[in-house]
Amino acid sequence: CGIVGYIGTRPASNILLEGLQKLEYRGYDSAGVATISEGELQCVRAKGKLQNLQDKLAGYENLARVGIGHTRWATHGKPEEYNAHPHTDTARRLAVVQNGIIENYRELREDLKAKGHKFLSDTDTEVVPHLIAEFMKNPPHHLSPLSLQSLFLEAVRLAANCLQGAFALAIICVDFSDELIVVRQQAPLVIGFGQGEFFCASDTPAIVPHTRAVLPLENGELARLTPMGVEVYTFAGDRLKKFPRTLNWNPIMVEKQGFKHFMLKEIYEQPGVVRTGIETYIDAAWSLENNGTSPIRLGLAPDLLQGLEHIQIVACGTSWHASLVGKHLLEQLANIPTMVQYASEFRYSPSPLMPNTLTIGVTQSGETADTLAALEMEQSRRSQQPDPQFQARMLGITNRAESSLARMVPHIIDTHAGIEIGVAATKTFTAQVMAFYFLALELAYIRKTLSSERIHAIVEEMRQLPAQIELVLESQERYIEELAHDFAETQDFIFLGRGINFPIALEGALKLKEISYIHAEGYPAGEMKHGPIALLDAKVPVVAIAMPGSVYEKVLSNAQEAKARDAQLIGVVPLNDAEAEDTFDSLLPVPKVDELLSPILTVIPLQLLAYHIAARRGLDVDQPRNLAKSVTVE
Ligand code: G6P
Repeated sequence: CGIVGYIGTRPASNILLEGLQKLEYRGYDSAGVATISEGELQCVRAKGKLQNLQDKLAGYENLARVGIGHTRWATHGKPEEYNAHPHTDTARRLAVVQNGIIENYRELREDLKAKGHKFLSDTDTEVVPHLIAEFMKNPPHHLSPLSLQSLFLEAVRLAANCLQGAFALAIICVDFSDELIVVRQQAPLVIGFGQGEFFCASDTPAIVPHTRAVLPLENGELARLTPMGVEVYTFAGDRLKKFPRTLNWNPIMVEKQGFKHFMLKEIYEQPGVVRTGIETYIDAAWSLENNGTSPIRLGLAPDLLQGLEHIQIVACGTSWHASLVGKHLLEQLANIPTMVQYASEFRYSPSPLMPNTLTIGVTQSGETADTLAALEMEQSRRSQQPDPQFQARMLGITNRAESSLARMVPHIIDTHAGIEIGVAATKTFTAQVMAFYFLALELAYIRKTLSSERIHAIVEEMRQLPAQIELVLESQERYIEELAHDFAETQDFIFLGRGINFPIALEGALKLKEISYIHAEGYPAGEMKHGPIALLDAKVPVVAIAMPGSVYEKVLSNAQEAKARDAQLIGVVPLNDAEAEDTFDSLLPVPKVDELLSPILTVIPLQLLAYHIAARRGLDVDQPRNLAKSVTVE
């Protein structure tokens, strides 16, 4: 979900709607805003996309200078208007928006119902305004000094201490109309500092059009925003001294810039992202003659990578696929046994502790709840180990250097992909894979598992990648757009790959599933005969990634097995390759590169294929149903 809040001198309503528009990628089942003017709380909500809320509000003049807004990704309760945020208390004096899950809401609700509170929704969130109202009406005897400043603030603090789970809250109250209170516990919340006006939001895109001075709240903190300033407190009521930092990005980064969809714009940003990664992390002066130091400049503390015996990676979704490519690289180039785990699995069933292990969290948003929780769990179980071999060594890979992940782990590799808005990840994936090349090469250099000549050859080929991606985009897009017509009625797809391109088969299938709602499975090509082959007939197209290298002939044979079952065969293959031309019905050629580097190229036609099939079907590519860009709940 996405939350926003405003307090200042301008009419709040439009600022909230604009903010929600920037956060719609976080959820779009329903939306709502609450404002206070002339001693009255106005709360307007609508089911479905934000546009429905905008339509409802159009034509109303609302001069309120304080308000909160929400765009929902349903967890508890169907996406109906009565479940949409903001939620209010029985007397409608308070309004609350929440991102997260209040785990103990059932007990709280029963207790509050017994005290006469009336509930109108199925959500977990609704307990919050009632609980705060209860504390305001019947304050306990032991109040903290905060109560002298504002009973509202103190009541929120008391309520926050009763809530279990992960939550970010923004709250307004008619009786304290120059206050906006925000709370953070395991779900992101950023405060923006303007001139005589203050903002809060789940993520910075909602804030950057107004100010670049931001302060991310940490877990267990709450803040009071007034037109005069911001005060930050702990849940215990202690005041904290905090200062905003300046973001170095501009609002243009979150505009479509002429592209029909963010996803297409982000696909086209990939050459630039790969180029920036290379310029940032590869030492331009390094050569075969001048190879006394590592060619890679990750800027990590040297002891982080020294004497490693194992690497374990936790991630979700597309980041998990990038991590699988990473595993291949770390094992094949740097000879380090590497495990890749789904964060949501690892957090509850971690593998036994291994010594001298680097734990890497990979996430584009830097906020995925499961990934953060898995890392936190690992950090805490290792902190209880007296033996230094078991001490936590933590690294994050993300494009969001200001995210919770980046603040949680001591070291990050910033992939420099910038923020991604399209729900289906594209440029952040290639950027994460690039980060793994840099890390694997750095480790290969340190551990002397590759010769300087081999490192040099890889680096030189890597420098060609941006132009090669450009070539694929230029030469393929029109053709793929046409090819997409063939699949208007298709219901199932199979994607095959082997070795380093197996994760790309998974990623191609995921892209298609996410945005076109076509069932798709990615499989290691050699496994097809053990199951998925039963699905094949003339109606099930098979996309195979066949790049020259260790498994080229094998993939071509696997493709032949599919062809023998009448499947339409689409090949992601090297340019001008006669054998590939003979095998496949349709070709998506990419420049011939070292097999190791090929995932950066082979993924591009698959992104375009998913994009054009979904666009052809008239679907909402940037905001596919049921998904959200940043999943801050378990
Ligand atoms: C959501 C998004 C995916 C993303 C996954 C992991 O499901 O829709 O695109 O791959 O979360 O997100 P992360 O931010 O951790 O990479």
